[in-house]
Amino acid sequence: MIRNQWYAVLESREVKKGKMLGVKRLGERLLFWRGTDGKVVCLVDTCPHRGAQLSHGKIVDGHVQCPFHGLEFAANGDCVYVPSIGRAAGAQAKFNASAYPVLERHGFIFLYWGEVEKDEALPPLGWLDELPHDEFAYTTVVDHWKVDYSRVIENQLDVAHLWLVHHNTIGRGNRRVVDGPMVEWYHEWSEPTILNIWVSNRKDDGATTGKKPKQVEKPPRHPSLQLRMPNLWQNWISEDMRVVAAFVPIDAENSRMYFRYYQRILKAPILRELFLAAAWVMNLRIERQDKRVVETQMPKRSDLDIGEKLFPADYPILEYRRRRRALIEKNNS
Ligand code: FES
Ligand SMILES: [Fe+2]
Repeated sequence: MIRNQWYAVLESREVKKGKMLGVKRLGERLLFWRGTDGKVVCLVDTCPHRGAQLSHGKIVDGHVQCPFHGLEFAANGDCVYVPSIGRAAGAQAKFNASAYPVLERHGFIFLYWGEVEKDEALPPLGWLDELPHDEFAYTTVVDHWKVDYSRVIENQLDVAHLWLVHHNTIGRGNRRVVDGPMVEWYHEWSEPTILNIWVSNRKDDGATTGKKPKQVEKPPRHPSLQLRMPNLWQNWISEDMRVVAAFVPIDAENSRMYFRYYQRILKAPILRELFLAAAWVMNLRIERQDKRVVETQMPKRSDLDIGEKLFPADYPILEYRRRRRALIEKNNS
């Protein structure tokens, strides 16, 4: 996993006021809860005293109370009370818990996985910031995949599997030959952060794919697929229909998928809800078609040099691997 990045880690609705949520993310036990002001906060879910899981404790006067010896922690992780030493002794910095910066945007909770001293502002989120959320309604499929999140991402950049894996859903039409695909990085603050992909599939008409990815001209249409590093993705279906997904790392062999279908075609409440319910069923089916194959891939975590033999249609996957490796080398020292 790449250090010093903002990851989408949860949906807002999962963190409820007055309740602690203990989850595994980025290989760590983490505790999320909302302070009295409703703001989400995150602590490492392991007590600095003797390692008990804080999320099994209680919220007492706006502080997290460890279930073992009752140490209390403020939202920023400061230890404000140690019962065995006595209230009069006040805060005890020696027992401070580690905290991570978190922010909420567009129904997702983002966590900055890096050194707290290096806390950075959440950068723009690309299309997620641009989506008119008051016009679009969405429904989310949430699922657990037994692979590293890099494999889940690569599956969503894979433009050669649709005709087979999704033969009776989004891959109907037997368009198995891939021209290109055209790939381009979009830069934010001089960093390549968004991978834009233009997909062009056709039936096998006897002509092999003549054009390599770098020979294909950028089509004058919106890119079909977009990956925003480190873990957000969009399938731009039309002006009025999108799929946005977050691929959340749990650990090196497990991920959580948030697969949102957005639409603004139907606005009347009952019709819209019926449409979204049908879309949820369809998207679950598509997502399960992918998961069935991807969970069998070995190794469970992808990287450059894992011994795979790629063909030209895998170009977006190769670009992702290169970028990810460069970021790991830069940030994980
Ligand atoms: S382990 Fe948490 S207070 Fe002792
Ligand atoms: Fe797929």
